[in-house]
Amino acid sequence: MQQENISDSSGKKEYVRTMFNDIAVRYDFLNHFLSLNIDYLWRKNVISILKPYKPKLILDVATGTADLALQATTLNPDKIIGIDISEEMLKIGQKKIFDKNKESVIQLINADSENMPLESAYFDACMVAFGVRNFENLKQGLHEMHRVLKPNGILVVLEFSKPKKFPVKQFYNFYFKNILPILGKLISKNDNAYMYLPESVNQFPDGENFTKILTEIGFNDLKIKKQSFGIASIYIGIK
Ligand SMILES: C[S@@+](CC[C@H](N)C(=O)[O-])C[C@H]1O[C@@H](n2cnc3c(N)ncnc32)[C@H](O)[C@@H]1O
Repeated sequence: MQQENISDSSGKKEYVRTMFNDIAVRYDFLNHFLSLNIDYLWRKNVISILKPYKPKLILDVATGTADLALQATTLNPDKIIGIDISEEMLKIGQKKIFDKNKESVIQLINADSENMPLESAYFDACMVAFGVRNFENLKQGLHEMHRVLKPNGILVVLEFSKPKKFPVKQFYNFYFKNILPILGKLISKNDNAYMYLPESVNQFPDGENFTKILTEIGFNDLKIKKQSFGIASIYIGIK
């Protein structure tokens, strides 16, 4: 599929799966390099938010190479399930889990977050880092997360957002539109992946638009915690 079809949600899932399969081996390096390692801090903040809830059963949606799932092992849960549609991202994740000897805690499943092969009301916590923006059907994916959470279970979503204030807004727009696609293309060797990134961020209903959708789905006590001047946001909701 060509770049111009991204905004058309039909076929987005296959486009996204192929793209992440293509860049999987370089994904971790690119992530840390292009974000100057700030992504690590943002994921750490997700884990800190979960900590007081002492979740025993955790779902990591769109787990990719399992960075967030691995960080969540510090919460001492009984089980973490990571789910993703990209087989190649999961292969890298599986290797990291094996290398860190976390196979008894983390289980990876190759499946679609918009139609999860998981039982209802099972998890204490559900987390997603940089995943929801990629869903073909955002509401369907959020409904699924709501379904698999226990009553009073917590949802934590980390996603890019659009900074609103000068000069971060201007710097961010310039970096995202001009620098990142060129660096991303050179390093990932994929023509579209880092064109897709700014476009998908631009199309994502961030901030209060996103919390409104979470409310519609059935989440309560919604909170937004802006990260790094609003470059990313953490959304918290309770089932
Ligand atoms: C930007 S990566 C984020 C990976 C990881 N959570 C992280 O923080 O690095 C987005 C991931 O979402 C996955 N993804 C996109 N749509 C999905 C869906 N419908 N179901 C499951 N995974 C999906 C992609 O395959 C990719 O691995």
